[in-house]
Amino acid sequence: MAKRDYLTLDDFDYRGQTVLLRVDINSPIDPKTKRITNENRIVQSLPTIQALVDKGAKLVIIAHQGDTLDYQNLVSLEEHAQRLSRRLGRDVQFIDDVAGPAAREKIKGLKEGDILLLDNLRYLTEEVSTFEEAVKLTPAEMTKTYLVRNLAPLFRFYVNDAFAAAHRNAPSMVAFQELLPSAAGILYDKEVTALTNILESPRRPCVFLLGGAKISDAFSMMGKVLSEGSADSVLTVGVTGQVMHLAQGKKLGPPSEKFISDRGLGKFVAPAQEYLKKYPDKLHIPLDFAVDDGGKRREISAEELPSEKPIIDIGAKTVAAYGEMLEKAGTIFVNGPAGVYEREIGAYGTRELWRIIDDARGYSVIGGGDTVASAARLGDLAKIDHVSTGGGALIRFLSGVKLPLVIAMKKGAKASQPGR
Ligand code: 3PG
Repeated sequence: MAKRDYLTLDDFDYRGQTVLLRVDINSPIDPKTKRITNENRIVQSLPTIQALVDKGAKLVIIAHQGDTLDYQNLVSLEEHAQRLSRRLGRDVQFIDDVAGPAAREKIKGLKEGDILLLDNLRYLTEEVSTFEEAVKLTPAEMTKTYLVRNLAPLFRFYVNDAFAAAHRNAPSMVAFQELLPSAAGILYDKEVTALTNILESPRRPCVFLLGGAKISDAFSMMGKVLSEGSADSVLTVGVTGQVMHLAQGKKLGPPSEKFISDRGLGKFVAPAQEYLKKYPDKLHIPLDFAVDDGGKRREISAEELPSEKPIIDIGAKTVAAYGEMLEKAGTIFVNGPAGVYEREIGAYGTRELWRIIDDARGYSVIGGGDTVASAARLGDLAKIDHVSTGGGALIRFLSGVKLPLVIAMKKGAKASQPGR
């Protein structure tokens, strides 16, 4: 088990103290109604909120909410406050101000056990411009931003539980640690512990199942877990599996090759060839595929390619071969579905692999929006040991990128003196 390099909730006494808590409750929003369509991140944030209130804090929560159009049409956090109230069974106050005079007055009036959610952090441009690197600031320089300069003096402690935003180098994420004694929340601790264990001390054999259409994610993780020996096997599916097929000097057929070149994914063939050369026994390529034959599913072996029909899934032989390895695994990590699972003719591989993983004895970790959505639809999320709330943060963590939040929590631990 990896040693923690950050403080946790148990390191401070919060009774009667004002505590600033950063969570990631950025949730999918219906583009028409602007209402939240999935509460998972809200639910995952509850244990830390509950623990801080139980410990007697006067609690102020900060968070961001994006839109499907990235940083446009930002949505207020009022509905998040209502949903938190409902889930906690106690009042979560809300104010439509982020760090202005109204928010500050409200914070000053809080009593022990009160919870206040401030409005969307991204109403402040500095929250986005910093991580988009339009304005490059260090965490120390970010202490001068409007948010930090206005809020920090009102607080005794800072807690960060926003693992899913750990890749965002923004004032709300990395600057308060410069000024306040800082601890990680329960979810942050759970995520970092689960993912560090996968990288550093997984139960063997450790099997990575990587697929989906966003193959830059799969390739960046593959490089790290193969070169450092975390993965004993990498099973490729989805478009990642198709690129591995191309890397053997074979063909897929015009529609699938067009799909890959239209999205600029041809550039992954060279790294795929390099990995195949370096790790021939660890990397696995689909043995068969399913194509869309005029609206009907038809399975063909890899030798039968190229095909004039588009590939939509892996086939039954691949499911059987991969299933055997997944059943024997001590650790399983999954990112990316096996095929076009949204269509019934492309769902077989994804459904069967989830069925096998749900029943497998190994410790299972999954993450990423599409992966979790496919597991919720075709598998049983309750049977997965750790469902990460992270998307970009999870991929970067497993690719070996040093995340701004991870660095800031480590630095904060050195600067903070527990028990103060
Ligand atoms: C996420 O959903 O990955 C995090 O909440 C960060 O959101 P962002 O991609 O809008 O910065």
